[in-house]
Amino acid sequence: MNQAPHVAIVGATGAVGVEILSCLESRNFPMASLKLLASARSAGKQIAFRGQMLTVEELTEDSFKGVDIALFSAGGSISQKFAPIAAAANCVVIDNSSAFRQDPDVPLVVPEINPEAAYNHPRNIIANPNCTTIITLMALFPLHQKFGLKTIIASSYQAVSGSGQHGITELESQVRAVVDGHPVVRNVYPHQIAFNLIPQIDSFTDTGYTKEELKMLNEGRKILSLPELKVTCTCVRVPVYRSHSISVTAQFEKPLDLDLARQAYTDKPGVALMDNPAEGIWPTPLDSTNGDTCYVGRMRKDLAIDNALSLWVVGDQVRKGAALNAVQIAELLVNK
Ligand code: A2P
Repeated sequence: MNQAPHVAIVGATGAVGVEILSCLESRNFPMASLKLLASARSAGKQIAFRGQMLTVEELTEDSFKGVDIALFSAGGSISQKFAPIAAAANCVVIDNSSAFRQDPDVPLVVPEINPEAAYNHPRNIIANPNCTTIITLMALFPLHQKFGLKTIIASSYQAVSGSGQHGITELESQVRAVVDGHPVVRNVYPHQIAFNLIPQIDSFTDTGYTKEELKMLNEGRKILSLPELKVTCTCVRVPVYRSHSISVTAQFEKPLDLDLARQAYTDKPGVALMDNPAEGIWPTPLDSTNGDTCYVGRMRKDLAIDNALSLWVVGDQVRKGAALNAVQIAELLVNK
């Protein structure tokens, strides 16, 4: 782009929208203007940005005139309807929903992994991958570059903020109810989340996998351009506020060397090794919360599967898993 772009955030009042604003501000993203869009409920609300108060506008079909880049984070149905409208108005959409991720004409981009894909967007839409997929691939991509990824076997431990503010409120109110000996009320999750784990995220498909798990199965293949990559995954909701964790076993094509595997993280942007079990050092979700780095630990040669490593990775799913990744994609467009 020749000039600083006119930018819009669709869903600016939501959990990810607020974090997008924070990333634009902290990264000093160059902009000619910024438009905040949300539902009619939020129209007129004031939000501070770079020392100014910006007024939230209602999202309409006319919202995208003169906008160069729109970051969408208002859910799949809003993206389905409004992303093509924005794209037709010559605006490049960076979409956080899953609506377009498997469209062959929509690139699925993690800037540390496949930045070049962002430049080929024939529909004027670029998709941001699923949060758990992004964090898992941040851990596996440096290893893939050295050893060639063949199979991923994963279990995720996903924080309640992945369900938006309602998930956080549900955990908080249920913890209080249990501690105070009151009945637990459920609104968001199919079972109590306080002091419990729920091995279901999103609805089940006829494969027996949930939709969330199928995203993990399918999105890595597209991002890594590995159509034969084998992935299996169980996604679990855990009573953690923020940051997803993933336990991963990965099998590789080339012979593995644990020291080389550790060195693969040296000077890699966005991911770091935090791994010294003898000293009690390995990452927990709190280590990545509100930060931009994904941390990898518990790395070891897998004893059950040939030529495989097992590891643990944590990442802030609202930042690298959503807002930050979207802003990094916008940076790719601006810096081209
Ligand atoms: P609003 O705050 O006005 O409801 P979250 O994922 O945290 O629930 O946030 C969802 C975001 O999507 C919010 O900014 C929300 O705005 C926005 N949103 C929801 N429904 C619509 C809609 N019909 N039109 C525009 N924005 C919407």
